[in-house]
Amino acid sequence: MQPGYADIIVGLDYGDEGKARITDIKLESGNYSVVARFNGGNNAGHTLILADGSKLVLHSVPSGVLYKNIINYIGSGCVVDPVFVAFTEIPGMPKSIDLTGRLKISTLCTAITPVHILWDRLTGALIGTTGRGIGPAYTDKARRTDGDVLRNIRLADILIDSEQARKTILAHYNKILQLLHFPNNLVMLSAYCLKNGLKFENASQVELVQIFDHHQDMQEQIKNFIDACKDLKRNGFLEPDPLWLTKQVEVGQNVLMEGAQAYGIDVTYGAVPYTTSSSTVASNAYVGGDLSAKFHRKVFGVTKAICSRVGAGPFVGEFGGSESETYCAAKDEKGQVLYPQTKEKAMYNPDELMKSENVLELGIALRMKTGEYGATTGRPRRIGMVDLMRLKSAIHRTGVDELYITKVDCLTHYQSNALFDGQIPVITKYKSYKVEIDHVPVTAHELYRVTPVISRLASFGDISHVRSVADLPSEVRAFVQFVEQFTSCQVAGIGVGPGRDEMVYFPEIQNQATIKLATALTAEPFGGIMELRSWILEVFSLI
Ligand code: IMP
Repeated sequence: MQPGYADIIVGLDYGDEGKARITDIKLESGNYSVVARFNGGNNAGHTLILADGSKLVLHSVPSGVLYKNIINYIGSGCVVDPVFVAFTEIPGMPKSIDLTGRLKISTLCTAITPVHILWDRLTGALIGTTGRGIGPAYTDKARRTDGDVLRNIRLADILIDSEQARKTILAHYNKILQLLHFPNNLVMLSAYCLKNGLKFENASQVELVQIFDHHQDMQEQIKNFIDACKDLKRNGFLEPDPLWLTKQVEVGQNVLMEGAQAYGIDVTYGAVPYTTSSSTVASNAYVGGDLSAKFHRKVFGVTKAICSRVGAGPFVGEFGGSESETYCAAKDEKGQVLYPQTKEKAMYNPDELMKSENVLELGIALRMKTGEYGATTGRPRRIGMVDLMRLKSAIHRTGVDELYITKVDCLTHYQSNALFDGQIPVITKYKSYKVEIDHVPVTAHELYRVTPVISRLASFGDISHVRSVADLPSEVRAFVQFVEQFTSCQVAGIGVGPGRDEMVYFPEIQNQATIKLATALTAEPFGGIMELRSWILEVFSLI
């Protein structure tokens, strides 16, 4: 029998590129029997638009849920919060989605315990983590033990001896209390706060309130956690065989590996420490996804025309720079997001802001007009321009065969912007301390100091009704070709709206020719840019 193959979808920016939609579209072909996740946990927020136009946001469960004949597999490279999956995500599925026999979670997955979540909330502020315990769970996976106490608690370990797991997690909790010098009772905790002049209502002490909350019911939470694992087992969602996926592919089934997060926040290639804690590059699919690389076929990369980032860290080309970073991270005294979508809606008129010459305001306007708010946390996403330097680097490191650019229709908003004279700004070079550099720096320190050099491309009007390349305005085709030439990667499709059918696909043959031409043009310094003069209206440096 002919074995099947594996394709991989990965994000190329900072997450939230619209990968789930590309997964969904790829599944329509009927080529795949399994969708597998290989990294991350419920820090991901994969949004699918259902047939009735409503939204479904998936966090741990892979994006194959809408297809009845597809099995959704969570590979051992993921970390799993059993409480979230069993008691929130699965029960929260629309009635039309029945996961019976269609969700398999490797029991080799490291479990995210209530203690990991607590620890993440206490320590994740600098990075701006999602607070879902992802980093602490991966830390414990690498740590394995603490003295003679197991730290890497996998789902399999809990099923084998749940009482031992309970004791181990409680011991971990007590260790944290010791570490924080917090005595294990509420009266003494309040005394501690009093003694140290800490006020619960003080915004900077939000974490203390969280400890307080957790403190009250940690025993209860651990019990709930064990119950959730048992619930997943009872419902047949746990897969103990590490060869399960291999066996499927060996008998001819094809698998689509769905990456979570993205290259820009990869634990190695991202700007440490402002990264997630797993490897997001395509090759990790063959570690965390429980399959051998011999079945590999293609990588599909997804980038977004309105680039966004959540959490802290350098973001070259961000509208409003550090001001925007601070604004988007702001929280109120209760620890809630200060500028969620509803608040911005009440505060600003995006059409007016769009005309502003203030970059922070331009970012706010673009966010509002394009709905860029965190699917997991509700945070306003930081907004930036298309960065071809970073994209090229991401494409080449992760080995993209087909590139998808989502939200290209949203570039039309630049038409009303004064700052860029109604044109689309695109980063084509970096300068570090005024010297041009030909690579993306590796440290956050250097990245925060990079000055982008931008090219402006002609913008275009509404393209949301367009479905074929022939009907695209020449400016859109020029934009696509510019990206292809710069990155030497074929654009396979662009998003012109949020729906599954709101895409324009580019025929392969035409693109192959384009890429060859591109390679020749960009081989000489500035050669490509000179040849592309008809599309570039101006090239200038921001400094
Ligand atoms: P963590 O993954 O929760 O530890 O968060 C680390 C960083 O990655 C933070 O800046 C998060 O906002 C970011 N992050 C994690 N998951 C996603 C995602 O799915 N999309 C976008 N950013 C993410």
